[in-house]
Amino acid sequence: MGDFLSFDELMNWDAVAGRFTPPARLAVIGDPIAHSRSPQMHNPALRARGIDAQYIRVQVPVGQVSQAFRQFARRGFLGVNITIPHKFEALDAVDVLDPLARQLGAVNTLAIRDGRLHGHNSDGPGFLRSVREAFGMEVKDLRVLVLGAGGGAGRAVAVQCALEGCPRLVLANRTVSKAEALAAEVAGLSPQTTVVLIPWQDAAVAAELSEIDLIVNATSLGMKDEDARLLPAGVLEGRHLVFDMVYRAGGTTPLLADAKAAGARSVDGLTLLLHQGAISFEHWFGGRAPIEEMRQGLHNAVKSGQ
Ligand SMILES: NC(=O)c1ccc[n+]([C@@H]2O[C@H](COP(=O)([O-])OP(=O)(O)OC[C@H]3O[C@@H](n4cnc5c(N)ncnc54)[C@H](OP(=O)(O)O)[C@@H]3O)[C@@H](O)[C@H]2O)c1
Repeated sequence: MGDFLSFDELMNWDAVAGRFTPPARLAVIGDPIAHSRSPQMHNPALRARGIDAQYIRVQVPVGQVSQAFRQFARRGFLGVNITIPHKFEALDAVDVLDPLARQLGAVNTLAIRDGRLHGHNSDGPGFLRSVREAFGMEVKDLRVLVLGAGGGAGRAVAVQCALEGCPRLVLANRTVSKAEALAAEVAGLSPQTTVVLIPWQDAAVAAELSEIDLIVNATSLGMKDEDARLLPAGVLEGRHLVFDMVYRAGGTTPLLADAKAAGARSVDGLTLLLHQGAISFEHWFGGRAPIEEMRQGLHNAVKSGQ
């Protein structure tokens, strides 16, 4: 677990600013926040680009996102990442919302330019880059199953897949009403995409898999050993591509273990963290992010259990 500032410390900036050399100019907010590995990824990138700034963690309670954003702007911050549970609250706390963030329904990146708060979403584009890097394929060519098509991550993935025009998009979520609402929303996004809603049941999921190339876990299942299995035993095939958005300190997830046993290629949540982080960095500083330094920073953090 890493160091973080409390909301009160953020609001009393003069008392804490002197702690940071180089100066704190970027941050990630969430609640909780101590587990975030974003500093270990962004600080090496800042050093690699020769930028005299530091990226820190700040714990911000629900309901205080707008106040936190204004304080970051007053104190000369350049940007902020937003994680659970603030990605929706952040939508209403920005001055300018980019069209993709509006469509994905969440803001995970704030860029502060000339005192104005610009909201972006790098989770959707980060998902596309992760698929490209891991599998050498484009989402527009893949039939996709999204498990957890009701939470924020599932929504971002489903909307992004439909915007890409993937040929088939199958949605499943434990709470059916949420998946129904999402299915209705994505159905109109692309004429190329057939949207299918299935129940959160083993038999229904297993029956779909012959028509699916890419399976995405967008639930929080897999973070703990005792979590229920996502897929019934024996249904994965070697031709499937598996994307587990969950990342777990010091271990693989049950879904990734199942993929390996089936001979299926897979990609983990750390890869998504890397690519969404790189896109955030590009919103703040332009050009291509120093991806290998960021990757190394993340791997060092995971290896040392930081
Ligand atoms: N790697 C990355 O960079 C990255 C980025 C974003 C998210 N994520 C990960 O993605 C996961 C989801 O995040 P989120 O922001 O979408 O969270 P969220 O909005 O709270 O959604 C959670 C999702 O998980 C489902 N779920 C939770 N417990 C379940 C259970 N016992 N059985 C079946 N479904 C269950 C929920 O279904 P209901 O709707 O029925 O509650 C919902 O679809 C988290 O693990 C998060 O860390 C990773």
